[in-house]
Order: sequence, then C-alpha cells, then structure tokens
Amino acid sequence: MEQLMRNFFLFLSNNKTLTRLAKKYGFKFGASRFVAGVDFEHASRKIKEINDDGFVVTVDHLGEFIDNEKEARESADECIHAIKIIHDKKLDSQLSLKLTSLGLDISEDLVMENIRRILDAGKQYNVTVTIDMEDQTRLDKTLNIFKELRNEYDNLGTVLQAYLYRTEEDLENLDKYDPYLRLVKGAYKEPEEVAFPDKKDVDENYKKLIKQSLENGNYTAIGTHDDAIIAYVKQLEKDMGLSRNQFEFQMLFGIRIELQNKLVKEGYKMRVYVPYGDDWFGYNMRRLAERPANVMFVLKGVFKK
Ligand code: FDA
Repeated sequence: MEQLMRNFFLFLSNNKTLTRLAKKYGFKFGASRFVAGVDFEHASRKIKEINDDGFVVTVDHLGEFIDNEKEARESADECIHAIKIIHDKKLDSQLSLKLTSLGLDISEDLVMENIRRILDAGKQYNVTVTIDMEDQTRLDKTLNIFKELRNEYDNLGTVLQAYLYRTEEDLENLDKYDPYLRLVKGAYKEPEEVAFPDKKDVDENYKKLIKQSLENGNYTAIGTHDDAIIAYVKQLEKDMGLSRNQFEFQMLFGIRIELQNKLVKEGYKMRVYVPYGDDWFGYNMRRLAERPANVMFVLKGVFKK
C-alpha cells in the first residue's frame, strides 16, 4: 500500500497540468509545511529566523521542467535577486537550484547563459550555488555542465544520488574537480535498470558513498533525515578523525526539526534547505512520496480556511 502511494505521489510530481494549476490557485494544501513563502521577502525573514537559531541555510527558488525561454530567464533573474538580498541582509545562506528551471530542457546555450549569470553574481556577493540533481535522464547533462563550470567557479557544488548504480563511478570521476558535494538517497521515480529498488540497498550504497567522498577529501554535505545514516557519519567522524570543517548535515525545511536542533546543540554544522516560490507542487508531492503520513498535514491544509 505504502509503495502504491509513493508511486502515486511521484507520478503527480511530474504532472505539468497540475503544476500549472497549483501556480494559478496559489499557495494551498499544506504547502507552507514544506515551503517558506511565495517570494524572497517571506523567505528572507524565515532564513533570518533560522540563522538566529544557529543553522545555516541553502535557499531554493522553486521551479522545474520550465519549457519556455522567458520563464527560464525570469527564474535566473530571481536567483540573482535572492543572491543580492542574501548579501545585503547578511544572511548565512547558499543557493540551490534545478537546471530545468533555467532552460536545461530548452537549449544548452540558454541554460549555460543563465547559470553563468547566477554564478557571476554568486562570485561577486560570495554566495555558493549548488546544482540539485534531478531525474536520471538529465544526469549526464547536469554533470557535464558542473564539470565545465567547476574549473571556472569555486562557488559551485552539486548533488549525487545513492539510489543509482552508477553513482560510485560518478563520484570517482568527479574527484579531480575537488567537488563540493551533497550526497542524498534520491527523490525521483527511477526504473530498476538504473536504480536499486530496495531501500536497504540504497542505504548501504549511501554509506559507502559517504565514506568514499570523505576519504577522497571532498567537502561533503550529508542530506538526510535518517537516524541510522547520521549515526554512521558520527562513527566515521571518530574512526577517520574527521574535522568538522570537512562535512555538514543538511535537512529539508519543516522536516525532523527536533533532530536538526539536536545536531546543532552537539556542535555540528546543520544546513536547512529552504524552498520558496509559487512552483511548489512537484516539490511537495515528492515530500509526500517520501512519507505518505504527511498526507494528513495536506488534508488539514485543505480544510483550513
Ligand atoms: P528516508 O527516506 O529513509 O527517511 C528517513 C526518516 O526521515 C524517515 O523515517 C522519516 O522519519 C524522515 N523523513 C524523510 N522524509 C520525510 C518527509 N518528507 N517528511 C517527514 N519525514 C521525513 N533528492 C534528489 O533526488 N536530488 C536533490 O538534489 C536533493 N536535494 C536534497 C537536499 C537536501 C538538503 C535533502 C535533505 C534532501 C534532498 N533530496 C534530494 C531528497 C533526498 O533524495 C531524499 O528523498 C530525502 O532526503 C528523504 O530521504 P532520507 O535520507 O531522509 O531517508
């Protein structure tokens, strides 16, 4: 039953008509549980509060699968606007983005122009930019862009997903780029030909990749809410004598807040991924797929005035 619900929400997350309708009808159905607001004005207030509580942030202007040039350029403009405000308000925040929001599905020239504009602003205002990883059909293009730009921009990071069989090799190939990496389990619906179908295997591969990345000397962000993985990282810290300057934990806004607080109290660097914007539908559906119990929050949102 749980697997069925998972598949259902992942199916919805890709639906362009529902995404369009959600944008049109606004910020509803429990969206505020996982999303910090419709615009950067709201998001920046949240970031300030989160910073004051001892966390660092990466902010994400929600957007994906954009299929027209105008919107892709506007999305890049919004990222640059966010970078300037992060600087002006002295917020402790990086920026995360998805290349499909900048025109990855439209043309290579367009996506390169947009990401370069953002990275130039990031360089000027000292804001690190992480390229989120989307589904595996876009993985090669995303990694190629990362590799091309990483030589020019040291304020650039990306993400690798433990559910894919190929990730161990991708990690090894990235080694020469001295990458700034976020490792996650993976949030998209992928076929068995490319991804471990069993959660147990994903978790084992995740541990293997974390160790490999840390042994390679990469700055490694561990993006998870999983107690067992966090315990594993803490054990590695002891066994490998790791410096806390080499890794950080990352979690999504609104998820496992007590655990986030606990890690900060223990002196770990804890970065909260804070999404904002009106394109919240796909993001929220993936959060429901990860934990169908979250549906209750959505239902409460539907019936709340
Ligand atoms: P797992 O799913 O096993 O969950 C462990 C425990 O955490 C659960 O038992 C539950 O208690 C809690 N939990 C997890 N998800 C929850 C939810 N939605 N609501 C409430 N509780 C929840 N993916 C991707 O493909 N590309 C990307 O770029 C990113 N980027 C990214 C950034 C950051 C900062 C994080 C934390 C995650 C991502 N992800 C991602 C998502 C990631 O791939 C994965 O889907 C989620 O983090 C859930 O996996 P966990 O590691 O938390 O483990």
